[in-house]
Amino acid sequence: MKYSICLLLAVTLVGLSSSLVYASDPSPLQDFCVAVNDSNAAVFVNGKICKDPKTVTADDFYFSGLNKPGNTSNSVGSRVTQVTVNQLAGLNTLGISLVRIDYAPQGLNPPHTHPRATEVLVVVEGALYVGFVTSNPANPKMKNKLFTKILHPGDVFVFPEGLIHFQFNVGKKKAVAFAGLSSQNPGVITIANAVFGSDPPISRDVLTKAFQVDKNVIKYLQSQF
Ligand SMILES: *[C@@H]1O[C@H](CO)[C@@H](O)[C@H](O)[C@H]1NC(C)=O
Ligand SMILES: *[C@@H]1O[C@H](CO)[C@@H](O)[C@H](O)[C@H]1NC(C)=O
Repeated sequence: MKYSICLLLAVTLVGLSSSLVYASDPSPLQDFCVAVNDSNAAVFVNGKICKDPKTVTADDFYFSGLNKPGNTSNSVGSRVTQVTVNQLAGLNTLGISLVRIDYAPQGLNPPHTHPRATEVLVVVEGALYVGFVTSNPANPKMKNKLFTKILHPGDVFVFPEGLIHFQFNVGKKKAVAFAGLSSQNPGVITIANAVFGSDPPISRDVLTKAFQVDKNVIKYLQSQF
């Protein structure tokens, strides 16, 4: 009897902890919660406040323009066009979003992470060298492992939540990919920009030690962002 109570408790605790581990975007408690487009109000809730369902229309679930190529005339030669809750209010509480990524020849979507989302990417045009790196290993003898692949049209690759990943156009022509992300607001941290381009800048003492280079190298890198 005592044993079965212990077992029940253990099972309950395991169930509870796994539901905590799964915490990501909130599950909807109603059919939908179309975001009110009021950035001042939205700052104070986890997500965005709901529009009165009586005033919701089909346009609240609609976005147009993802057929248009993004402008890749920039220093990295790529452009991400986002369809998150900020562009499509009907995504609020639904735990999903979408992007289109355009790449010039040799264009790079530089190493970055999404703090709140896994990303699944499909190539529709061109050839991309893609990859991600695992988190710091528990066993210090193991490394941060890199997984890479060259993708062609129709190929799909998944970047697990939070891990640093990139895509590089290795073809001679432009490339296009679309990706789904498991958050209405995945967030993005571009590693180089965050580390060398923060405002105000991170102390050079911190960065010279972290990267084990001369102060002038850090000075140069900071000047690039
Ligand atoms: C693309 O961006 C560049 C640089 O900002 C700009 O000069 C150019 O006019 C843009 N092209 C289009 C088609 O918007
Ligand atoms: C929200 O409002 C801003 C500014 O008025 C606008 O640019 C943006 O497209 C709006 N977003 C949605 C989803 O309606």
